[in-house]
Amino acid sequence: THVVTDNCRGCRYTDCVASCPVACFHVNEVRVYIDPAVCIDCSACIPACPVHAIFEEFDLADDQQHWIRINAEAAQRYPVIRTRLAPLDGADARRQQLGL
Ligand code: F3S
Repeated sequence: THVVTDNCRGCRYTDCVASCPVACFHVNEVRVYIDPAVCIDCSACIPACPVHAIFEEFDLADDQQHWIRINAEAAQRYPVIRTRLAPLDGADARRQQLGL
């Protein structure tokens, strides 16, 4: 499955959602999560994210492994999102802060 990690926080660009051929993304106030039961591992979202927040689970660094469980649990809790939203205020500032 694919996993949304640290960098998706306070920007919510949702280009990932627009790239997704299934409805695997779920959204809250600050970020998105991927439902591992729905993701078809197409990888379209990886290059779509301006802050490089999404990884294939086997490519996750050791300190990012916890995001596998967090995505699975949060996807049950938050509503599905099927279309792109306007990024959050401050998204571009945050992106610059990350050096991206
Ligand atoms: Fe988050 Fe990147 Fe999507 S910032 S909402 S994972 S495009």
